[in-house]
Amino acid sequence: ATTLALGLALGRASELSYPQGHPWAPARRGDLRGPCPMMNTLANHGYLQRDGRNITRENAVKALADGLNFNPTLANIMFDQAIIANPEPNATYFTLDHLNQHNVLEHDASLSRADAYFGNNHIFNQTVFDETRQYWVAPILNASMLANSKVARMISSKAFNPTYTFTLITEEFSLGEVVAPVIAFGDTDAVIVNRTLVEYFFENERLPTSLGWKRRDEIVSLNTILKATSAIRNATSLFTDSDASLSKRKLTANLH
Ligand code: HEM
Ligand code: MG
Repeated sequence: ATTLALGLALGRASELSYPQGHPWAPARRGDLRGPCPMMNTLANHGYLQRDGRNITRENAVKALADGLNFNPTLANIMFDQAIIANPEPNATYFTLDHLNQHNVLEHDASLSRADAYFGNNHIFNQTVFDETRQYWVAPILNASMLANSKVARMISSKAFNPTYTFTLITEEFSLGEVVAPVIAFGDTDAVIVNRTLVEYFFENERLPTSLGWKRRDEIVSLNTILKATSAIRNATSLFTDSDASLSKRKLTANLH
C-alpha cells in the first residue's frame, strides 16, 4: 500500500511539474502580465521570465520554441512585430505590460478582454469570454465557430463602444489571435481544436497538460499559421455561397 501511495504521489507531482522543468505558478505580486493569454501562460510556466520583464529576442524565440515548437524564423517575425510595444527608440526588449498600450498592439473586440473604453484592457474578463464562448457551439471548435466569435465581438464593440477602432491592420492581428488556439492546441490542417483545452487555457493562463495536451511534434512555421488563418478569414464571411466574392461579381455583371 505504501508503494502504491508513493507511486500516486510521484505521479501527481510529475503531473504538477509538467511540462518537464516548467511547472505552472501564478504571477506573484510585482510580476507583469498583459493582454496576451499565451505570453502570460509562457511566463506562468517560466518559459519566459516569470516576472514578465525584459523579454529579449533571444528570450522570445527560445520560449516559443520550447513551449510551442515554433520555428525560429516565425518567432523572430513575431518579435519584430512586437518590439514597437516598447516606446523607447531602438529598444531590444519589451515587457508584458508594454503590450497593454491601447491601439499599439492591443485592440478592441478581444475574445477575453474588455475594450479599453470600458476599463481594463488586459486582465482576463469572464463576462467578455462568456460572450465569446456562446459561439463555440460544439466540443470541437472549427473555423466557423472561431470566426463567429470574433465577428460577434466586433459587432458588440461597434455597437456599444463609441471609441471602437478596428483597422485592416488590426484585422490581420486579430485573425492571427483567433487562430492561435488551433496552432497551440489543435489540428492545424483541419483547423479544429478541442473546446475544453481552449477554455482551460484562457481561464487559467496555463498549458492544458493536465487535460492530456502536449506540445506538438511538428514544428510550427509561418506557413502553418498563414494557411490556418486563411480558413478563419474565409469563415468570417456572412454569406453562404461557397465563394462569396465570386457571387458578388456575378451579381454586378447581372446589373450591367
Ligand atoms: C492577443 C502579443 C504570441 C495567442 C495578443 C495581444 C497582444 C499579443 C498584444 C492583445 C490583442 C488584443 O487586444 O486582443 C503577443 C506577442 C507574442 C504573442 C508579442 C509573441 C511575440 C502569441 C502566441 C499565441 C498567442 C504564440 C498562441 C499560439 C493570443 C491570443 C490572443 C492574443 C489567443 C487573443 C486574446 C483575446 O482576444 O482575448 N497577443 N502574442 N499569442 N494572443 Fe498573443
Ligand atoms: Mg484587446
